[in-house]
Amino acid sequence: MEATFHDLKDKVVIISGGANGIGASMVKAFTAQGAQVCFCDVDVVAAESVCAGNDRQPLFRKVDLLKERQVNSWIAAVAKTHGRIDVLINNAACDPRIPLNDMSVHDWDTLIARNLRSCFLTSRAANEHMPKGSSIINFSSITFHNAPPEMTAYVASKGGIISFTRSLARELGPKGIRVNTISPGWIMTDRQLKQFVTPKIKRMLRERQCIATLLQPREIANVAVFLASSLSSAVTGQEILADRGWQHS
Ligand SMILES: NC(=O)c1ccc[n+]([C@@H]2O[C@H](COP(=O)([O-])OP(=O)(O)OC[C@H]3O[C@@H](n4cnc5c(N)ncnc54)[C@H](O)[C@@H]3O)[C@@H](O)[C@H]2O)c1
Repeated sequence: MEATFHDLKDKVVIISGGANGIGASMVKAFTAQGAQVCFCDVDVVAAESVCAGNDRQPLFRKVDLLKERQVNSWIAAVAKTHGRIDVLINNAACDPRIPLNDMSVHDWDTLIARNLRSCFLTSRAANEHMPKGSSIINFSSITFHNAPPEMTAYVASKGGIISFTRSLARELGPKGIRVNTISPGWIMTDRQLKQFVTPKIKRMLRERQCIATLLQPREIANVAVFLASSLSSAVTGQEILADRGWQHS
């Protein structure tokens, strides 16, 4: 049983990429807090299953974050329906492994647009509807710190997220809006387990994390719940590295 953050009840929370992985866990965690959750994704089948498994009726809309008009229209519709937006979570991203010499300009530009420009688009569209006490949560990554090979565009986009967060926190601070980054360690989502996490990687994580237990998506959702709640009112412009101490090793 997770803790209850009473101030999140009835808050309007919007989540990008809520159909899978950490995003789907956040849809569950915020609806469990009694928040009104609106999420977008391009994966309609997975999004429908997230909604079907949740009797608190999260609202899904198909939005491609690469498309400025779709982003603007989604956020305007949420604001019109609910009258405000209390929490914006910029979670959607992609993390392909592409060696430098195989990466086209199109690959690079699309990845940066999906992972970084999308956060600018949602934040620009949402902030006008966000009252004092609201919170924006962006997603960076442990890879910004440990810099694995064949992920140059991804790691660059995640470094950009941390810089974007710092500047946006300063710009929106006068409106009483906090902006923070969560950098997850290696999280055992279905996709990571299917595509990348081998027994060797599990062994490496267990050795290098301060606490060996592998990280689950709901644990990152819990960090987002904390950053959305007024219990974290002292925290803005910051990065929380939720990696069970891996980077510390
Ligand atoms: N899983 C990890 O180990 C890990 C580690 C570090 C950082 N992160 C970060 O955490 C966040 C969530 O990661 P995850 O592993 O749960 O991802 P995921 O791939 O499981 O889910 C991402 C979701 O975003 C959606 N999406 C992608 N592009 C989109 C677009 N253009 N428009 C709308 N939706 C789109 C996908 O369809 C998917 O449902 C990401 O920002 C990721 O970089 C994850």
